[in-house]
Amino acid sequence: MSANPRRVENLHTDKGKVPVYATGIVEQPWDDYSDDDHATWATLYARQSEVLRGRASDEFLAAQDAMGMTPDRIPRFAELNEVLRAATGWTLMGVEGLLPELDFFDHLANRRFPVTWWIRRPDQIDYIEEPDLFHDLFGHVPLLMNPVFGDYMQAYGRGGVKAHAIGADALQNLTRLYWYTVEFGLIRQKDGLRIYGSGIVSSKGESLHSLESDAPNRIGFDLERIMRTRYRIDSYQKTYFVIDSFEQLIDATTPDFTPIYARLAQQDSIPAGDVRDGDRVFNRGTGEGWADDGDV
Ligand code: PHE
Ligand code: FE
Repeated sequence: MSANPRRVENLHTDKGKVPVYATGIVEQPWDDYSDDDHATWATLYARQSEVLRGRASDEFLAAQDAMGMTPDRIPRFAELNEVLRAATGWTLMGVEGLLPELDFFDHLANRRFPVTWWIRRPDQIDYIEEPDLFHDLFGHVPLLMNPVFGDYMQAYGRGGVKAHAIGADALQNLTRLYWYTVEFGLIRQKDGLRIYGSGIVSSKGESLHSLESDAPNRIGFDLERIMRTRYRIDSYQKTYFVIDSFEQLIDATTPDFTPIYARLAQQDSIPAGDVRDGDRVFNRGTGEGWADDGDV
């Protein structure tokens, strides 16, 4: 699930045959998945497992092991929920696609994680514009098994409910934090930079790009800097932010954001590709392949 309020379009052809409740929640129609659907899962699962070895954070890989998703067929949410609930109190629920922001925040605040039930078509293996089952389940769900990260997600949900009441600017600041951590975060381990963001974890191209390309900036985590930074929804990120640990993430985000939102309202946003004085720069991007406009 992504907090990015993009419109839902280009949906899987099977969409529409599953009853959607008023809230966007569905029962996972497991028996209706086609052989192609299971094959898409298996192909992506095998490919990403290969790519993520030595690239995903140790926490992600450990959480993935602990969760134990089936590599060869689409997992049943009900089976994953038995593991997840017992270990963490989190519950997965099937959804049709992106939810209204406040609904999304409310689910997270109550340790419910919405997972898109349908999977991309075979011709969308490498790229899809919106979150599907592979992104949500393979990308987001494993780290819910990590106690620190699971608490961060819940705290984010509570923070979202609050920001929503404060206003659109606060919400935008918070969405940028989600984007640059939950979706596109990197983490520094003893042996180098690794991936933990779901948007990267679920993409072969961006896994390689985020860690190994000279094009993007890699900059140390800085809460207010991130909250001011625009981002890309149609291409790889121009900048990735690097945390030292999930504890750092929790510590930096535990304080009340209300005064921070007020302060940021007086400041300009930062273009996605800028490097600023005071940034802790791990890599200054060459900017190769960057579009001049299109930051959101
Ligand atoms: N501390 C934040 C607030 O007061 C809540 C939050 C926690 C937001 C973690 C994001 C991530 O709004
Ligand atoms: Fe997402």
